[in-house]
Amino acid sequence: MELTLKHLCLCFMVSVFFVSAQAQHIEKEINQLIDKMTLEEKVGMIHANSSFTSGGVERLGIPEMVSSDGPHGVRPEHGRDWVLDEGVDDAGTYLPTGLSLASTWNKRLGYQYGAVLGSEARYRGKDVILGPGVNIIRSPLNGRNFEYLSEDPYLTAQMAIGYIKGVQDQGIAACVKHYAANNEEIDRGTVDVRMSERALREIYLPAFKAAVEDANVYAVMGSYNKFRGQYATHHEYLVNKILKGEWGFKGLLMSDWGSVHDTKEALLFGTDLEMGTDLVLMYSSVSQTEANATEKLSSNLYDRFFLADTAIKMVRNGSIPVEVIDDKVRRILRVMYQTQMIDGKRNNGEYNTKEHQQLALKVAEESIVLLKNENQFLPLKKKEIKTIAVIGENASRENAMGGGSSQVKAKYEITPLAGLKNYLGDAVNITYTRGYKIERDITADAGLIAEAVEAAKNADAVVLVGGWTHGYDYSKWNDNAYDAEGTDKPDMILPFGQNELISEVLKANPNTVLVFIGGGPVEMHSWIANAKSIIQAWYPGMEGGNALAKIIFGEVNPSGKLPMTFPKKLEDSPAHKLGDFPGKNGVANYNEDIYVGYRYFDTQKIDPEFAFGHGLSYTNFSYKKLMVSELANNELKVSLKVKNTGKEDGAEIVQLYLHHQYHKEDRPEKELKAFDKIYLKAGEEKLVEFILPESSFQFFSTDANKWEMGSGNYNLLVGSSSRAIKLQRQILR
Ligand code: BGC
Repeated sequence: MELTLKHLCLCFMVSVFFVSAQAQHIEKEINQLIDKMTLEEKVGMIHANSSFTSGGVERLGIPEMVSSDGPHGVRPEHGRDWVLDEGVDDAGTYLPTGLSLASTWNKRLGYQYGAVLGSEARYRGKDVILGPGVNIIRSPLNGRNFEYLSEDPYLTAQMAIGYIKGVQDQGIAACVKHYAANNEEIDRGTVDVRMSERALREIYLPAFKAAVEDANVYAVMGSYNKFRGQYATHHEYLVNKILKGEWGFKGLLMSDWGSVHDTKEALLFGTDLEMGTDLVLMYSSVSQTEANATEKLSSNLYDRFFLADTAIKMVRNGSIPVEVIDDKVRRILRVMYQTQMIDGKRNNGEYNTKEHQQLALKVAEESIVLLKNENQFLPLKKKEIKTIAVIGENASRENAMGGGSSQVKAKYEITPLAGLKNYLGDAVNITYTRGYKIERDITADAGLIAEAVEAAKNADAVVLVGGWTHGYDYSKWNDNAYDAEGTDKPDMILPFGQNELISEVLKANPNTVLVFIGGGPVEMHSWIANAKSIIQAWYPGMEGGNALAKIIFGEVNPSGKLPMTFPKKLEDSPAHKLGDFPGKNGVANYNEDIYVGYRYFDTQKIDPEFAFGHGLSYTNFSYKKLMVSELANNELKVSLKVKNTGKEDGAEIVQLYLHHQYHKEDRPEKELKAFDKIYLKAGEEKLVEFILPESSFQFFSTDANKWEMGSGNYNLLVGSSSRAIKLQRQILR
């Protein structure tokens, strides 16, 4: 035993030595490269030289660096400009989007998801994938919530860690975005976000911190917004002090596309690479003085970026030391070494494999959330149904190319209608009616509703697919788009007259399954009492329709749970009730502070429509024997037994929350500290174990301005959602 332990220690020390010797060797090589570079060559590396590339140094064997969105598939090719290439093989795997991934609560899937993305990026010749998006879902309205993960920092961090490792194990850099406090799209380029230090540390930063410290992310993307008066991409506090200082981030901070506003700030406050967007836009954002100053140096527009000719000039006139540039180049080179861009030993990656498509299916199956299922209405029984009426434009609409920069050209996309047809074949007669028209500002269409009602009356069951939309393609991404970059939803009210449609269809045929596509909740009060079953499908990727059909007919038992609270109405939501959204006079005050999502609803005892962590199954689970024991290092071991008490195999997401009973600083009613997804055959029981590190009990003290241990009594709460606590126990820390 002793010998084995000694052996292990020795092996560990040898490998640490080997890794650090190798790291030192790489640092040495990087420094040698920098020594050989001219100032122009260095600066050529710290800004874009086309829409998705930044400069290399050919004579030294340093290639250009190629980035691509991101986050749920490799973006279509643009060549070097913004016009989509024609006739290229860029239709790939379209994964369910970030919100879907988080709804699986399956960390292993997070890794596999990243691995598919990394592998496809590799095949397509990319070096950096612009994802994951980890901005906290502060309001249900944010147009990019569909790309993000959760309202909860712990769930967000856990899913992001897997994703990043998955991408990077394929030899591709992940680029976690958008750092930081980019929680709305309207005015995203100008809004000044103000929040307390505690909210920053407890809610908005943990996922970024985990990306750096636990997943060793190679790149971070700065965001468009300002934070406490300064642009986040070149932010002395966020970037220099926290990211690169406190967390020791050694990688590359790139800008969002066009998020740099000032050369000196970008040089001094941590921006390592300036990426850009539409050239005309970029040109107009360069101040006239700077434009004039750089005019003579070059006629190339990319040379007019903030981190281009002006930077050269500043070094030349002595206002910026060259070491500032060297540091940026060093960080870029590190990423190049980490992704084997320089030594050339790269694998080829894989594209559109059956395995990748199967993973897209698995994520979709595990992410779809069964919100309501009165009297076990679902699953539908194939044998008992002769005619099914599928209603709603979202049933037949493809989404891959929508939403903005995250667009994907999907190899194929199975819509809900196609999925039902695949699943049912000729055995069931499927009728399809549109029900509503996806057009901005359009209200209920009486003709379409009458047609849908008629179809519903003549069917044994109805599947009505509604919800939000995002535009069809990049050039018109805001057309009819609610879930899209650059826009936020105006409210939570279903657009296109869908409420009228749903009410009428429910009256015509109560055997209706309501399915919602989209990046967040809708108001349901006018018809929810009459709805037997409701499914939240998010944007479920290329295999989404197949996954949905399998769930509706019970071939797959639903196991997704909400990563965000679904409020009854927008006004209940803390960002809208207490804070500013999207902001007033250019400033967004996050007055709700740490009370985001369920932290607010549960503390204020406001009933949501569906709670954080909620999701039903076709089976039932019982929880028992909650045990707690102390481990070394102040860690706590928590165990319990969960049993599948029903007749179907299924999966449960066991959630552990902490409630701090009394403390001088406010604590939320409960906070998620651990979770696990377990798979149980009918009748099977399993032991579930969690280890809570000391940090689970810490909070960010406003008085001391640092993390502190929260001592006193806690309730340890274990349950199947933030509102369905099954077991609890008091502990003292
Ligand atoms: C988005 C980023 C994206 C970048 C490149 C920006 O507008 O905010 O998320 O990665 O464009 O497409």
